[in-house]
Amino acid sequence: MLLTLSKSHSNSHSIILPIVKGKIDHERLVELTGLDITFDFEGDFKEQQVIYHPKTGKRIYLLGLGEEKDSNRLRDAFRSLAFKHCKDFEAGLQLDGLHLSQKAVEEAVIGLELATYRIGAHKTESELSDFYKDDFEVVIISDQIDKSLLKKAQDTGNSMKHVLALVDAPANVKTPQYLAQWAKDSAKKYGYTCEIFEKEKLQQDGFGALIAVGQGSIHEPVLITLEHKPKDASSEVPELALIGKGITFDTGGISIKGSQNMHYMKSDMGGAGAVLGAVELAARLDLPIHVVGIVASAENAVDANSFKPGDVITSYSGKTIEIIDTDAEGRLVLADAINYAVKNYQPKHIIDLATLTGNCVMALGYSAAGMFTKNEALAEKLQRVGEDIYERVWPLPLFDEFKSDVFSDIADVRNFSGKPIAGAITAAKFLEVFTEEHECWMHLDIAGVAFGDSEYSKMKSASAYGVRLMVEFMKAIAEPNT
Ligand code: BES
Ligand code: ZN
Ligand code: ZN
Repeated sequence: MLLTLSKSHSNSHSIILPIVKGKIDHERLVELTGLDITFDFEGDFKEQQVIYHPKTGKRIYLLGLGEEKDSNRLRDAFRSLAFKHCKDFEAGLQLDGLHLSQKAVEEAVIGLELATYRIGAHKTESELSDFYKDDFEVVIISDQIDKSLLKKAQDTGNSMKHVLALVDAPANVKTPQYLAQWAKDSAKKYGYTCEIFEKEKLQQDGFGALIAVGQGSIHEPVLITLEHKPKDASSEVPELALIGKGITFDTGGISIKGSQNMHYMKSDMGGAGAVLGAVELAARLDLPIHVVGIVASAENAVDANSFKPGDVITSYSGKTIEIIDTDAEGRLVLADAINYAVKNYQPKHIIDLATLTGNCVMALGYSAAGMFTKNEALAEKLQRVGEDIYERVWPLPLFDEFKSDVFSDIADVRNFSGKPIAGAITAAKFLEVFTEEHECWMHLDIAGVAFGDSEYSKMKSASAYGVRLMVEFMKAIAEPNT
C-alpha cells in the first residue's frame, strides 16, 4: 500500500468517510457530495454504504465506526471495507481523517494495510489477477496527524501481514527449516540478530523434548533465537523473553488425530508466528526495549522413528518426562524452550504463546486467549493492553490442586493427566515445572484465537493474534507511565 498524507482532498480519488454511530456529519457530506440530502446510515460498526458523487462519479464510502466501545477494533472496519472494494480503488483512496483521533488513524492504517493481504498466494497467477487488484494507494486527509505515526502503523500492519502469510502457509512448504530461514531473512532486513540451533547442536545441548517431538519427521527440529537490543540498552539481561510453539504440522504423532480437521494443524505454529512477528516489529519500530524471542519448531509426524506413548525422555532442564500422549507435543517443545530462556537469559518477564489445547477453545471459544500466571500485576497489565487493541486475554487458574496431574510413576513428570477435564490448566501446570519458579512468567493458550473463521476467507485462516499484543506490551513496560 502506498500511503501519503495531505491537507486537502483531490477530486480524482474515492473517499472513505468514517462515521461514528449516530453522528453522521451532515455538513461534511454536503461539502463532499454537493448534495443536501439525508442518508439512511446509522454508523453501526462495519456498516458500509457507497455513494457516487453526482458530478465526478467518484465513490464516497460511508463506513460505520460503531460506538466508543468499538474504538479498539476499528482496524477491522477499515480492513473489511477495503477488502470488499479494493478492486475499485484504481485511482487511489482518500481517508477523510479530519475528525479521527491519532489512535483511530493508526487503527485505520493497520486495517487498510491488512486488507492488501490475499490468502490465495498459492493460486496460479492468472486466477489471482482476474479476481483481485491486491494493492492500492491511500491518502490520509488530515492536518493533525504526524507522518511518522503513519509509517509506524503501516509497519505494524505489514508485519502482521507477514505473520498471516506464515501461519496460512501449507506445512509442506512451511517446515522448521522454513521458519528458520524466515527468521534469518527478517533479522537481516530489519536489523536484529538471529541464531539457529540445528539438530546436532540440539542433541549436544540436551534439548531432549524438542528432539523427541521432531524425530518422526524428515524435517529436523530447530530452535530459533531472535534478539532485539536497542543501542543504548543498559543491561545485558533482556526485559522480556517471548517463547513460541512452532509445530509446523501436528498429526498428533502415534496418538494420531482424527482426519476431519487435521489440515488446520498447519496453524500449530501460531505461537511461533506471534513471536517472530513481534520481534520483527519491535526492531522495525526501534522500540526501546531489549527483547529475546525463542521459537521451538518441529513437525509432529507419524513414522517408524516417531516417539511413542510410554517413552521416557530427558528434557533440557534435566527432568525426565513420561510420554502418555504424543499429541500433547506442544508442552514438550515449550518445556525445553522455556527452560533454555530462563537459564541462559534470566529475562525479567517471560511469556510463552502456544496453540496448546483444544480444551482452551472449549472454555473460551474464539474470543480470548487463556491467560495463566501467578503474577497479578502482570496479568492486569496484559489484560489492559489486550482490551486496548482488542486482542483479548482471559485469566484461567494455576491452582496447585492440579500439580499431581503431571506426576508420573516412573519419571519426574508426565505429559498428560489422562483425564478428560481441565486440559488447558494441566497443560499450563506442566509448563510451570520448567520455569524454575520464575516470578514473572505467563502462558497464553492461543488455540482459539490464532486461526479461525472470518469474512476474509471461506475456511479458517490466520489472525496474527499476539503480534500487536506483545508489541503493545513491550511499549507498556518500556515506558511504564504512558
Ligand atoms: N495443537 C493441539 C491443540 C489445538 C487443538 C490447537 C485445536 C488448535 C486447535 C495440541 O497439540 C493438542 O493436540 N492438544 C491435545 C492435548 C491432549 C492430547 C492432552 C488436545 O487439546 O486435545
Ligand atoms: Zn498435539
Ligand atoms: Zn499441537
